[in-house]
Amino acid sequence: MPDTVHVLNGPNLNLLGTREPEVYGHATIADVEAACRAACARHRLDMVFRQSNHEGELVTFLQEARGSRGVVLNAAAYTHTSVAIADAIKAVGLIVVEVHLSNVFAREAFRHHSYVSPVARGVICGLGIEGYRLAIDALATAGGRIS
Ligand code: DQA
Repeated sequence: MPDTVHVLNGPNLNLLGTREPEVYGHATIADVEAACRAACARHRLDMVFRQSNHEGELVTFLQEARGSRGVVLNAAAYTHTSVAIADAIKAVGLIVVEVHLSNVFAREAFRHHSYVSPVARGVICGLGIEGYRLAIDALATAGGRIS
């Protein structure tokens, strides 16, 4: 379990590739998964990759990540609304790297607030699919002791 990274994706990310490509790019969720799998393989880490459109299911995914090396979390729109997801991260004591494909700070004001950031170890946004790889590198090289 400590050598597993969970990559968790929130609502509408299943539509990557066709969803607002001018904002999110042309990579599909399968492309994101492949890039994450390659990054984890380079570090000899196992990976669990999941996506859900449902807030409670994401809470369950976070609970199931307990004991892992850490979580790469793109909670998508729930980033900006979900106390339940923030509480789940605190409850299970997970190391979370928050990732967004787009630069949320260059977008609408409601995207500037994140319930995840205060309980995340780090935040990466605006770098597209590359952000996921950087987050996995951080979890791998810091051995879960990013400070
Ligand atoms: C997102 C940014 C969020 O504001 C948005 O609701 C998403 C995707 C991103 O990856 O850029 O669904 O998390």
